[in-house]
Amino acid sequence: MNPDTSLTHLRTEHSIATQKVAPFTGEGAYHGSTKRRAPPKTARAPQPIVDEMAPTTIAAYPADGSRAIAPFEATFPNVYVLERQLPVPTQEEVRTDGVVFCWCPLDEAIGLAGPLTKRVLEAMKELVVGDKRFVYVDSKIQYFEPGDVPVDSQHWHVDGSIVARGPVVEALGHNLLHDMLARLTSTRVPPRYLAYQSSDHCATVFATEPLTMTMPELIPDFDGLDAAIRELAPPCVSQPPASIVRTDGLSLHRADAATAAGWRLWVRVVETDREVLLDSSIIDCYGTVFRLPR
Ligand SMILES: [Fe+2]
Repeated sequence: MNPDTSLTHLRTEHSIATQKVAPFTGEGAYHGSTKRRAPPKTARAPQPIVDEMAPTTIAAYPADGSRAIAPFEATFPNVYVLERQLPVPTQEEVRTDGVVFCWCPLDEAIGLAGPLTKRVLEAMKELVVGDKRFVYVDSKIQYFEPGDVPVDSQHWHVDGSIVARGPVVEALGHNLLHDMLARLTSTRVPPRYLAYQSSDHCATVFATEPLTMTMPELIPDFDGLDAAIRELAPPCVSQPPASIVRTDGLSLHRADAATAAGWRLWVRVVETDREVLLDSSIIDCYGTVFRLPR
């Protein structure tokens, strides 16, 4: 029987046998591929660029790529607030919860969610600040073997970075650049996040204290930032099982490899001014786990 699918939710029976697994390469992008984009199958009118996501730094660079990318002093406040501690679900409750989401509006997701995800989303709804235009839900139900990684990278990064593309970026030798200076401009309110993860065997690691460092104002990926943060070794914490934590687009965090076998539900709510309209189905491969060579 075919699963019930849409672009923003997928209802399916999860089992160890059907868990998608791919080789870990470390090249996975949290915020858009570094590869050139294929044109979407169905054209949509381009969305206006909201202030929250405007790559303002790139405007200061000439079109011929002659200006080297400048450094700046970046301060990451590293918002990390433990907002709720819910009961830890059983492994079977996680496995059988059924529905996962990808950029699904929160109220729509609450109506479609399985019982566990629904309880998480209802708790998250109470924590929504409400000053952004959109509230979206992403979630995954994944089965890990020890050593598996929930995404194809373990780099320190921030979510919802501001991405610049186009001729100036290409003149600088890149297909995309993350505009870190624009994201770290203090007058700009970054996207807000609430994150839940059900289990203790594959927890996201968050930096918990403000961190200041010199870095390029535009970066093609998170390689250099990751290396710098590993060197600085800031205080950090692994998200407790069944907790809901509040972070924002300036909160440094990274995925960690699973320490044991088992199921995990991960749920993230984002408050953003950016409207996201999916034009192709990415939810099918969204819950893939990434396996290091053994
Ligand atoms: Fe992330």
